[in-house]
Amino acid sequence: MDIDGKRVAKEFQERLKQKIAKEGLTPTLAFVLVGEDPPSQSYVKMKGKACAEVGIHSIKIELPESTSELELLNVIKKLNSDSTVHGILVQMPLPKQINEQKILLAIDPGKDADGFHPINVGKMITGDPNVIIPCTPLGVLKLLEAYNIETCSKHVVVLGRSNIVGRPLANLLSQKRAQGNATVTLAHSLTKDLPALCKQADILIAALGKANFVTKEFIKPGAVVIDVGINRIDSKIVGDVNYGEVAPLTSYITPVPGGVGPMTIAMLLENTYLLAKSGL
Ligand code: GUN
Repeated sequence: MDIDGKRVAKEFQERLKQKIAKEGLTPTLAFVLVGEDPPSQSYVKMKGKACAEVGIHSIKIELPESTSELELLNVIKKLNSDSTVHGILVQMPLPKQINEQKILLAIDPGKDADGFHPINVGKMITGDPNVIIPCTPLGVLKLLEAYNIETCSKHVVVLGRSNIVGRPLANLLSQKRAQGNATVTLAHSLTKDLPALCKQADILIAALGKANFVTKEFIKPGAVVIDVGINRIDSKIVGDVNYGEVAPLTSYITPVPGGVGPMTIAMLLENTYLLAKSGL
């Protein structure tokens, strides 16, 4: 059965819109986009549109590809000290002259809409409940919750160890919390015999960024498959999972598009709301 992320995200955004209106808040999110990367431009556009739909004010700061690290640090400094700005999102990837880690460190942890600041990552990993959780991992947990998919005592294999998705998600799923208590294996490109390992998974999460990588040999019949991949082949978007051959073997699967992607955007809105409300 398909997991309809578009529907879950829409319902979530509707509830958020009502909360924002009722509480009379004007959450404000600043996007910083450096360079001309077409996917990044399209993501920021989609995120900005979603903000407007729920009553979040957004500001877009566009900087040229040639921007220096110091120039970007100065932009962040200004946003940090602007009390009308509640959240800051610097779209990744950044041009090669800019050290991403240095930029993430410069963002005020209390305005970190992505939850990428090392202080927030540290809080998240140690199970602090009052922390911004990165949008895609949080979106995956909310999808599992929405479909009553039990994670407790299940074997989850996470494919891909990125700081944005795989690593935080593997950590969260192993924590003592709702949508946690799983036994997690974090697998990656140097893992031996991936198909055999993945075939042991009750829940398989593909977040490695390789189009159609997961085939039927990876799947235990009845498994839940969450596809985080967004890959472009010609002008078509495909996931990391070969949906056509994998879907018939699964109990639940997220399609691409329309699975995890919309939830990532919905969670960014939620994080911005939380930052505006409480100043985490
Ligand atoms: N690039 C790809 N995904 C993300 C994300 O979730 N946040 C930011 N800031 N950049 C990204």
